[in-house]
Amino acid sequence: MNAINSTVRLQFDVDRLRAEFPILRQQIHGRPLVYLDNANTTQKPRAVLEALNHYYLESNANIHRANHLLSERATQAYEGAREKVRRFINARDVEEVIFTRGCTEAINLVAQSFARPRLREDDEILLTHLEHHSNIVPWQIVCEATGARLRVAPISDRGELDLEQLVALMQERTRLVAIAHVSNALGTVLPVGEIVREAHARGIPVLVDGAQAAPHLPVDVQALDCDFYAFSGHKLYGPTGVGALYGKRALLDAMPPYQGGGSMIASVSFEKTTYNTVPYRFEAGTPNIAGVVGFGAAVDFLISCDLDAVRVHEHELLGRATQQLAEIPDLRIIGEAHEKCGVVSFVYDDVHPHDVGTVLDQEGVAVRAGQHCAQPVMDRYGVPATVRASFALYNTAEDVDALVRAVWRVRDLFGA
Ligand code: ALA
Repeated sequence: MNAINSTVRLQFDVDRLRAEFPILRQQIHGRPLVYLDNANTTQKPRAVLEALNHYYLESNANIHRANHLLSERATQAYEGAREKVRRFINARDVEEVIFTRGCTEAINLVAQSFARPRLREDDEILLTHLEHHSNIVPWQIVCEATGARLRVAPISDRGELDLEQLVALMQERTRLVAIAHVSNALGTVLPVGEIVREAHARGIPVLVDGAQAAPHLPVDVQALDCDFYAFSGHKLYGPTGVGALYGKRALLDAMPPYQGGGSMIASVSFEKTTYNTVPYRFEAGTPNIAGVVGFGAAVDFLISCDLDAVRVHEHELLGRATQQLAEIPDLRIIGEAHEKCGVVSFVYDDVHPHDVGTVLDQEGVAVRAGQHCAQPVMDRYGVPATVRASFALYNTAEDVDALVRAVWRVRDLFGA
């Protein structure tokens, strides 16, 4: 690992990367900004900002439906981004990539279009206790509509999933397994490949919520063999309001539309409408064209940074933060899985995490303090909320040290 680390470090120049993110240069409350709320949303590199600008300055038009040059350019940029996303996740076929408003909409699409027509009373959807609300509530909505129910695999005190318990819950009535690749609240990395193998051995399809994984880990949907993979653009350095759903072609082909409107049709009459092929069937109306173009630029940017080097760098930041925070008396780290990425969550004594977050903000350190859209995780640990620092490729060891200093300041203010 040391040899790999040093080779990778040679290629990874964090100062050069930071220069691509103009927003990071500012002062917050008179102190240099230390942005550690990346699991919430990441900052955007110049390449993404320029792609958005360029699109609006040079190519703005609606796509797929006009025969003038601007429309052609816009269509090419939009479909070019689809190919970039395909390559990024190694999907077999570009038509297996559907653009959505984000990861949440991607999961809702599968819930409504794939699960709902198939679910019968007493069928089951299997989740884990680690899920984000966006991988819980869409399933509850379809359960309410169909009489199906949720089953939830437990997690350990360390925040790890017990694979055996999850597998034991894969029963005859299980119609889908829906799991995070990486927990947004704790950073636990789930053994997605093994889960897919176990589920498929029982004929059960698997959806992976990859919102927190795609920015940090290499994602290969063919190697994972998952049936659906959902993720957002804004957590991987792209614009907000755009995301992607990967689905296996045969499954997508058999799914009815999720929303009706322009673009998703082949022909329309008052008597009968026939639908377009995938992926267009699932992209009703004018999409977030500029957002998709920016998403494509973000994918290019991330790939250009060398994903292996990014992973090693972020892993070092996580290790440094975990070690230094653990030295602060009365601080409790929530989530100590063996395999983690991107996130350290903690509580300090009985100081409310919102108060900790406010003190950190005064020190220029931006973190998220709250339930992280994962209330069941908070309930599991008996805490109202946590403070969560989450890392991106532009963070530095100095950022970690600033975080730790700010937490010591909390101790000064609130007392030992
Ligand atoms: N899913 C985002 C987070 O974890 C909002 O903060």
